[in-house]
Amino acid sequence: MSEKQTPMLDIILSAHEMDEGQLKGRLVVVIDVLRASSTMITALANGATKIYPVEETDQAFRLVQNMDRKQVLTLGERNGVMIEGFDYGNSPVVCTPEVVDGMQLIMTTTNGTRALEYSKGAEEILVGGFLNFTSVLDHVAKAMSKGLPVTLFCAGWRGRPSIEDTLFAGMILRSLLERDDTDVDPLSDACQIAVCLAQRLGTNDPYELVNQSDHARRLAEHVSEDEIQLCCSMDRYPVLPRMQDGTIELSNR
Ligand code: MLT
Repeated sequence: MSEKQTPMLDIILSAHEMDEGQLKGRLVVVIDVLRASSTMITALANGATKIYPVEETDQAFRLVQNMDRKQVLTLGERNGVMIEGFDYGNSPVVCTPEVVDGMQLIMTTTNGTRALEYSKGAEEILVGGFLNFTSVLDHVAKAMSKGLPVTLFCAGWRGRPSIEDTLFAGMILRSLLERDDTDVDPLSDACQIAVCLAQRLGTNDPYELVNQSDHARRLAEHVSEDEIQLCCSMDRYPVLPRMQDGTIELSNR
């Protein structure tokens, strides 16, 4: 990475603990297309008031004990399967207005909520997925034009990269490269890998590639293809979920 030690745009390919201060002063976009980001975006767009992401199942059970049970739902999975004792799994399909409107959600997932935890300490933290692609892209471009460096933080799967999150990051980067006024040089290896994947896609419909991912195959036992398709819908909800002081709410930009 020659002279520039802190690139204007960087991509992390899977959730792992950050070095202290690594994300300080940066806008971080946490990406877990299958499915934590997609669930959070859908829930907030459909009226959930706040999300409490927690790393461990026990934390969720402790938190809910001190809350008004009529106003809070627990959503979560381990290895894609709903956690026993929770109200729902981690799924955008269950987050209809009838279920989530006016509710607070406590969520824990295998990788997505972990990436959020590791992002604490960043200047600003957003949740991104195909469902809010353009809202994220515009916000990232604006932040960079004001000199705020950006990290696209893919949750991946248990420390490994995943096609769906890398593709999302690559599509954001590809779009930024198409805008002449955005300074993204020098590109790290992770950035080059992500952009190559996005270029392979050619179109703007991520479903075909995402459906070939390890996680889509893992989920095939538990969820329908429609759910994968839903997570790949571009710009269905033009919203920006932002995490502040440990909880996620919709930002008014
Ligand atoms: C995760 O956090 O790893 C995912 O959201 C898993 C899932 O598909 O539920």
